[in-house]
Amino acid sequence: MPLVSIAAELKRAQEGGYAVPLFDTADVQSTEGMFQALEALRAPTIIGIYAGLVDQPNARGLAAYVRARAEDSPVPVSLMLDHGSSFEQCIRALHFGFTDVMIDGSKLPLEENIATTRQVVRAAHAVGALVEAELGQVGSGSDYQSFGAQRKGFTDPAIVERFVEETGVDLLAVAIGTAHGLYQGDPQVDLELLSDIRARVGLPLVLHGGTGCSEEQFRAVIRGGIAKINVATDLFVTAGKNMVTRAAQEKANYWELCKTATETFRERSEYYLRLFGTEGRA
Ligand code: 13P
Repeated sequence: MPLVSIAAELKRAQEGGYAVPLFDTADVQSTEGMFQALEALRAPTIIGIYAGLVDQPNARGLAAYVRARAEDSPVPVSLMLDHGSSFEQCIRALHFGFTDVMIDGSKLPLEENIATTRQVVRAAHAVGALVEAELGQVGSGSDYQSFGAQRKGFTDPAIVERFVEETGVDLLAVAIGTAHGLYQGDPQVDLELLSDIRARVGLPLVLHGGTGCSEEQFRAVIRGGIAKINVATDLFVTAGKNMVTRAAQEKANYWELCKTATETFRERSEYYLRLFGTEGRA
């Protein structure tokens, strides 16, 4: 089916107590592994392309590939800009055929985050796309001990309602103790903060930095109201390791390494789709 905006699927996830993952892709092999997983498990899924890739010359081609691959798939798939860095970039992504966008104004002063998000919402809604914004700041796993573990960047629950109301945003990424990339130490997720935020606003909440969370943490945040979980690093790190192992074995060649990459993306995507309860929801 054609790519879809993930709005209806996230609403169903919220009502059904499960989460839809966003898996970041970078190329044909990673995308193919994700599609094999979501088709095998009949699981609605968001495929993300990271903002840094959207400025590369092959971005429009990659988006066109994901769009064409989705048309051959019976399962609802959204193509979402992950961590959009500006209004202009969000518009470019929509022009490339993305069906949903994230504008990440989390490093901006609050008023600027509100103003930029509002601008993107107005434009994206005109073409039927959902907008995700980030309030607070999900940092990097490599700085975890000096940032997230110190509760730096955590979402301030007192401003959540105002932010949602003034921006008109559809999805909200919250900073509650996770971080992007591999953690220095273990993630500590603040479920009380999540519950405080959940009680204040009704829109689907998003957890970034899925890599490195325990299964119990994933189950707890989904119970606590997270409806979308972003995962990237684990997929690429595991695929990279498996490709290195495969390269050292007999008959290693380009095709075998590509196959290993696709198989790893499939296995890891299936793992998360089962864990998040997305399996069988399409
Ligand atoms: P990880 O790479 O830590 O899984 O985080 C992904 C993410 O949040 C992308 O937006």
